[in-house]
Amino acid sequence: MTETAADTACKPTAKFRCIGCGSICGETGTAFRCPACGDLLEIVYPHWDALPRPPAFADLWLRRRASPLPLDQSGVWRFREILPQEIADAGVVTLREGNTPLYPLPRCAQSTGVEHLLAKHQGMNPTGSFKDTGMTVAASVARQRGFRWVACASTGNTSASMAAYAARAGMRSLVLVPQGKISWGKLSQALDYGALTCELKTDFDGCMCVLNEVVARIPVYLLNSVNPYRIEGQKTAAFELMEQLDWQVPDHVIVPGGNLGNSSALGKAFFEMKQLGLISRLPKLSIIQAEGANPLVRTMRENRGKKLIAVHPETMASAIRIGNPASWKKAVRVLEGTGGTVEQVSEAEIALAKAEIGADGIGCEPASAVTLAGLKKLVKQGFVEQAEAVVLILTGHLLKDPEFTLKFHQGDLFPAEDAQAPELAQAQRGPMVVEASADAVIRTLEDADMRSEA
Ligand code: F0G
Repeated sequence: MTETAADTACKPTAKFRCIGCGSICGETGTAFRCPACGDLLEIVYPHWDALPRPPAFADLWLRRRASPLPLDQSGVWRFREILPQEIADAGVVTLREGNTPLYPLPRCAQSTGVEHLLAKHQGMNPTGSFKDTGMTVAASVARQRGFRWVACASTGNTSASMAAYAARAGMRSLVLVPQGKISWGKLSQALDYGALTCELKTDFDGCMCVLNEVVARIPVYLLNSVNPYRIEGQKTAAFELMEQLDWQVPDHVIVPGGNLGNSSALGKAFFEMKQLGLISRLPKLSIIQAEGANPLVRTMRENRGKKLIAVHPETMASAIRIGNPASWKKAVRVLEGTGGTVEQVSEAEIALAKAEIGADGIGCEPASAVTLAGLKKLVKQGFVEQAEAVVLILTGHLLKDPEFTLKFHQGDLFPAEDAQAPELAQAQRGPMVVEASADAVIRTLEDADMRSEA
């Protein structure tokens, strides 16, 4: 699709602003930290102030859906007016990411006690998680800058995504993961896409520490979410969500919290849409963590977001097994700016919520299910009201962690003496070993039918 001069007239020029001291810098360095105070950087677009309100982007973005160009087929680059323009169109590395579905969750809505419940399924991206939306932007920058190596520390999804985009771009990728603490599905993706994969005897936070030193010593391009280009790409999921809702703002958006890049990205998107006049109010963006990996929950409850309380993380939702989140200050700003809240959920609550999302025919990985588990609590507390519209962000695909799912349904995930054992057992749908005859299969079906009617 060819674009008119008007379409391209207002291309943004990005600048980096420190989230701590507010200073503006032109270059980021390899660690993406403010040269003055060492805090994280974010990308800002000062020239947006000169745009009409709202700019004529919405129709343009919609029109691109019908275009065969790779850039337009990407659900990230379709929104390129709100992305940094320094990346040459021809240099973009895309796997046609984004364009993810927004599903109603009728049964989950009923059991939770809300009338309007939707799930934006970011697990439907090319490598099965939301990471692809940020990776396409940051990997394109790495390639344009001529890096031979890119690198990340990861609980599994970032590494899978980075490995894929690096391979597409003809770059090598270095992955640092906590040994024995990431799912086989994610580890196998990194291997298949050709990453140099190092399992370290530490947790995610330890991997991050090692990687920071590696990046300071040799020329590899860091692709964790401290890289502000990742955040810009991940932002587009919120623009796409609003497009899918015809720009009608939901009351609540609920996301899982790990390293806190995604909540920061989605919050930034809503602030920007309001600034541009694309929406008239903000949704409350709330962040849910696992009880055993709850640094943001503790930080908000114990000192109102003033100083990070790091924790030793432990949760079976391995994607969010993070105790020292890099983007916590950005996330605090999103909570404060949107009026959202934080909540934590137990391992059993995560597993039950995951089975419920599965039973709605959607499915997701454990870390994504914290959103539904958290919503249930927020409804009970009255923070979310029955008639309010809620969107859950499902971050990873069901098949990312089949071991968790199998163990849950076979009754092997929790000890038999768990206080919630009866409730867990009710949600379990383990396979049955049945004699190889039609009679036996029909009997099994009839038994199941009777049980479901009872
Ligand atoms: N959900 C999934 C499926 C994830 O993989 C992650 C993070 C999160 C939620 C949390 O997002 O970190 O932006 O707050 N996974 C990272 C990784 C850390 O290495 O794959 P966040």
